[in-house]
Amino acid sequence: SAIFLKDYTVPNFLIDKTELTFDLDETQTIVTSRLHLRRNPESKARTSPLELNGGEDVKLIGVAIDDYTLPKAEYAIKNDKLVITATPDEFVLTCETLIEPQNNTKLEGLYRSSSMFCTQCEAEGFRHITYYLDRPDVMSVFTTTIIADESRYPVMLSNGNEVARGKTEEGKTFVTWHDPFKKPAYLFALVAGNLEVLNDSFTTMSGRKVALQIFTEKHNIDKVDFAMDSLKRSMKWDEEVYGREYDLDIFMIVAVDDFNMGAMENKGLNIFNSSCLLASPETTTDDGYLRVEAVVAHEYFHNWSGNRVTCRDWFQLSLKEGFTVFRDQSFSADTHSDVVKRVEDVSFLKTAQFAEDASPMAHPIRPASFIEISNFYTLTIYEKGAEVVRMIHTLLGEEGFRKGSDLYFERHDGQAVTCDDFVNAMEAANGVDLSQFKRWYSQAGTPRLQVTDHYDEQAQTYHLTIDQMTPPTPNQPTKLALHVPVKVGLVGQNNQALSFTFDGQSTDEVVLHVNDTEQTYVFENVSETPVPSLLRGFSAPVKLDYAYSTEQLLQLMSGDPDGFNRWSASQQLAVNELNGFVLQFQQGETLSTDTRLVDGFKSLLADETLDPAMVALILSLPSQAYLSELADKIDPQAIKAAREHLRQLTAQALETEFKQVYESNAVTGDYQASAEQIAKRSLKNAALMYWVASGSAEAKSAVVCQYRNADNMTDQFAALSCIVHFELAEADELLNAFFEQWKHESLVVNKWLMLSAAREQDNGLEQIKQLMLHPNFDIKNPNKLRAVIGGLGQNVATFHNLDGSGYTFLADQIILMNKRNPQIASRLCTPLTRWQRMVPALAEKMKAELERIAREDLSKDVYEVVSKSLA
Ligand code: ARG
Ligand code: ZN
Repeated sequence: SAIFLKDYTVPNFLIDKTELTFDLDETQTIVTSRLHLRRNPESKARTSPLELNGGEDVKLIGVAIDDYTLPKAEYAIKNDKLVITATPDEFVLTCETLIEPQNNTKLEGLYRSSSMFCTQCEAEGFRHITYYLDRPDVMSVFTTTIIADESRYPVMLSNGNEVARGKTEEGKTFVTWHDPFKKPAYLFALVAGNLEVLNDSFTTMSGRKVALQIFTEKHNIDKVDFAMDSLKRSMKWDEEVYGREYDLDIFMIVAVDDFNMGAMENKGLNIFNSSCLLASPETTTDDGYLRVEAVVAHEYFHNWSGNRVTCRDWFQLSLKEGFTVFRDQSFSADTHSDVVKRVEDVSFLKTAQFAEDASPMAHPIRPASFIEISNFYTLTIYEKGAEVVRMIHTLLGEEGFRKGSDLYFERHDGQAVTCDDFVNAMEAANGVDLSQFKRWYSQAGTPRLQVTDHYDEQAQTYHLTIDQMTPPTPNQPTKLALHVPVKVGLVGQNNQALSFTFDGQSTDEVVLHVNDTEQTYVFENVSETPVPSLLRGFSAPVKLDYAYSTEQLLQLMSGDPDGFNRWSASQQLAVNELNGFVLQFQQGETLSTDTRLVDGFKSLLADETLDPAMVALILSLPSQAYLSELADKIDPQAIKAAREHLRQLTAQALETEFKQVYESNAVTGDYQASAEQIAKRSLKNAALMYWVASGSAEAKSAVVCQYRNADNMTDQFAALSCIVHFELAEADELLNAFFEQWKHESLVVNKWLMLSAAREQDNGLEQIKQLMLHPNFDIKNPNKLRAVIGGLGQNVATFHNLDGSGYTFLADQIILMNKRNPQIASRLCTPLTRWQRMVPALAEKMKAELERIAREDLSKDVYEVVSKSLA
């Protein structure tokens, strides 16, 4: 049941206009559609039947062509499709369907979240509302009428502008919305509920005034100021950086509590998971603020990269997602610190996307086939997709990239296009050849660069040799050489940037165009033995190996003029030391007390010229997940022991330094989600964690004091996490106090659920089962389930228990969710899909659970992931 990109054909019919009427009701909702259809002149199938997508949850009441009601003999429903064999070439199809949003637990199509109605149609949710040509290359002008009882649903929203409002004969209220822009059905949205609104406006660069509205349930309307501010800044940024102006008279955002993903860019009516929209200092951490800002920007930017220019088919998903992630990353980098943002994005990519690339679910950013498209909203499509766009940016430069994006929007406005169209526009606008570069779109896996070097003192030349290879991935045993931009600088013995001559040009930094399996580059006029600073800014999503000595890493860590590579060197040094400890642990040896990282940290902490946020990032040791990704065979207990050991060594060696840094980075004044304050809090709380780890009694009272006195969630939660992690005497008391204080704030309860689930105690699994029975837990709410299961994932002792009980528990949840919410069930499978990477004892247990899941009657979503993992 897989579908293939190579089988793409244009649609046989087009829908010029779509008129929808929703009669909303608590028990049955009637949807009437009038589709203005005609045969597609570009289709070769001149007499093909009309086949509209539907779902098993859509009940057909009646269907008519040009007001002639079709008798049963003239249509059929086959495999969820409505098939009509004989149609005119141009006609209006009227369809009446009955759906039950109140029973929709999959959160796809029209469903209920608390007291409201809302929709999620990407990718193929619209077919669960009514029969339709539910594919992104069928674009239509939508007019939507919503009918409901006004006392319960005073707010009724859809895409575009409100054009009519009144009363029906039965005394219900109707509201009609019209969206003048053609769009695919996946961008359709509808919301009805008793909602509060925050109103604002934005004047575009051409002087048009756009009404901005954010809707939430009553108790949350005090938490949307930051989202509104982020929206206005995003609108301005897209005008300044990409020349893109907003196009409708109104832009609306609605927060809903029950949502499978982060948010959705429906035309003129974005719908958000409330976790990505609501923010207040007391309830939201700094990370939460940054996430709200990034997601608001991301969904807004989709108005051009996604909506005005959309995808031809779902294989092209990265066309809009990769580009839009690149755009939101750039926006956040411009808003805060670009190096800090880059480190965060790269660290996420190298941890999670690299792991996906090494798993049975590995796929290119433009997949060649899939069984269920929902499974392809992945880190590869999004994050690696953004890296590929970033490489084009690096190759063309700021101005060239802008020329390319201008041409792309100009050529394809109003169209549904492909990734090739995007690269073609970039090529055409700059007169460059990106044909080899396009292999990034079709080849899966993380390329590896092996780097060796040689300095000739006599000739003052420095040779860098780079080998590239990409390991095999499912269905792709052999790979071709890619075009990889590698940004390089040279650092001298006194931490100075060395200048050199490359390609006849004198410079101190160069982008190498690695495009073959083995190449040597010659740097001339190099005055001393250099330390190479490679892959600056992470100029390509690759694994780079160069045999750095500890001395060289310490040198780069303090002296590389490239801030990103200073972080990179610190991570490499920490990884080397941690891997040594892992080995000692596995061989039953006592872990040694040798560490040079401490020397690096010591000079770092003493340097007051550095950005505190960078210092905090460098202090954070490589995560359990990142070390797992790097491991040949993952031994979770050994990795955990190694990390704790290195943290302990560091904490003890630098106790006074951490205390001093903690105290000198206190933030004064009211909470602000500004780069400056966020940076200080992150360093202060990183220092606090080490200081507590040192065992100091003073630190223990400082952390409890911080918990009790905090006026913002960042400080309160950082303190609580520390107290719980190190099992201070107050852990139980304060975890309970935290719940009592915040039990009415659903998003804060999620944080409590996650921290409680992650707490490593002897009865770990019992504690997680209790959490799932807690009155504030709700299995229907994806955020709550993700909080508990996410916490379990961090709970090494419980999840990776050698008896396999953690895996059995996870498999039970997957089986439970399989029918109820297949998208969520499929995501829960991720840790098990990595079974082949685990040490044999754990691999076997994971595999057995996958096999048990495979014996169930599976949804397409879970089937695809489980069957590919066992293949
Ligand atoms: N396009 C949305 C975004 O990236 C994501 C929607 C994904 N929905 C899904 N059911 N897979 O902003
Ligand atoms: Zn997106």
